[in-house]
Amino acid sequence: MLESDHHSVSIEEHRLSFPGLNQKVYLNFGGQGSLPEAALEAIIDTYNYLQINGPFSLKANSWLGKRAVSLREDLAKELQVDPKTLTLTESVTAGCNIILWGINWQRGDRILLGDCEHPSIVAIVEEVARRFDLAIDFAPLKSTLNQGNPIEAINQKIQPNTRLIVISHILWNSGQLLPIGEIVELARSYPNRSIRILIDAAQSFGLLPLNLTELGIDFYAFTGHKWLCGPAGVGGLYISPEAFSSIRPTFLGWRGINEDDSNITLKNDGQRFEIGTSAYPQYEGLRATLAVHREWASRQERYRRICQLSTQLWQLLNDMPNIQCLSQQPPQTGLVCFQVNSRLSHIQIVAKLEERGCFLRTLKDPDCIRACVHYLTLPSELEILLTCLKEVIENQ
Ligand SMILES: Cc1ncc(COP(=O)(O)O)c(C=O)c1O
Repeated sequence: MLESDHHSVSIEEHRLSFPGLNQKVYLNFGGQGSLPEAALEAIIDTYNYLQINGPFSLKANSWLGKRAVSLREDLAKELQVDPKTLTLTESVTAGCNIILWGINWQRGDRILLGDCEHPSIVAIVEEVARRFDLAIDFAPLKSTLNQGNPIEAINQKIQPNTRLIVISHILWNSGQLLPIGEIVELARSYPNRSIRILIDAAQSFGLLPLNLTELGIDFYAFTGHKWLCGPAGVGGLYISPEAFSSIRPTFLGWRGINEDDSNITLKNDGQRFEIGTSAYPQYEGLRATLAVHREWASRQERYRRICQLSTQLWQLLNDMPNIQCLSQQPPQTGLVCFQVNSRLSHIQIVAKLEERGCFLRTLKDPDCIRACVHYLTLPSELEILLTCLKEVIENQ
């Protein structure tokens, strides 16, 4: 029994709301979460509503506008920010593109990138650097998983013309949680340089209890389809009020402008960066997903449960011969990365685990297997994973 298991509905019962978790050990929440039934129903209901009442009509359009406002409000509660600071996007990558292409770059400016960033983000940074003649510095964060200090690793790479730091809140390839608040303090300790901070929140949103206002960061790009288990295709971007005027829109459309004015003017909030028609029923899917989680437990409690379970898995793996967890300390997140000493490659092991109903993934650098433990995970699933792992390794 895990601590604080005192809900009106047991975790076993609550999991029934997620039909995708049935009959398998699903540990790929960092890739994509398992959609709750309520989300699927909300999506279908919304499509039906729109067909019946429009799909294009005064009634349908006004209803949709209100739904988008509600989604921004719900997300704002999750992030502890003003809804006006949020832009609805389709993914983390879309949000990072808005920021990276939107800064008024000057030749010779520098971007400081962590050395564990997702290829999506590295690709944008490299292309922006080519286009505007910028330099890129890499902060050696990978080596700080078990020793050293990530703040120091970043500090060493800050240069007089560093304009932007781009890092993940949780590193996708090791599960390391970065001390974002302290990194913000570090950046602000160079007051004449106005270094902005863009956070890739792919692995943190839906996993950590967040308060972005308190963290004090400039930009936070997130998605609903990973740890939050929402539908693929709806994410968001937070831009702090202080940083808002520093970003110009690269793509524009009717959603970002004031249409009523005889002259076109840009909206003065996060909607400025929304472009055109989206698959709006997905928005209702994400709202329904948020409600399912909130009804079961607070964000703090869900996070506590994730850490208890991931620590349990980390311990079980550590006790196995031929397995090394990347982290030498119990995990602070749900990502547990490990290496298997075997004649089989990691991808072969993952394929054999998948045949047995256990869903994990590999990563290239460091070469490892990643298990994403959610609050929805059951201790019994961890035992099943261990049994399957033993079987795969012993029968190689
Ligand atoms: C750290 C990180 N950044 C970015 C992405 C890309 O996310 P999206 O598909 O929402 O753009 C991922 C997806 O795996 C990720 O793990």
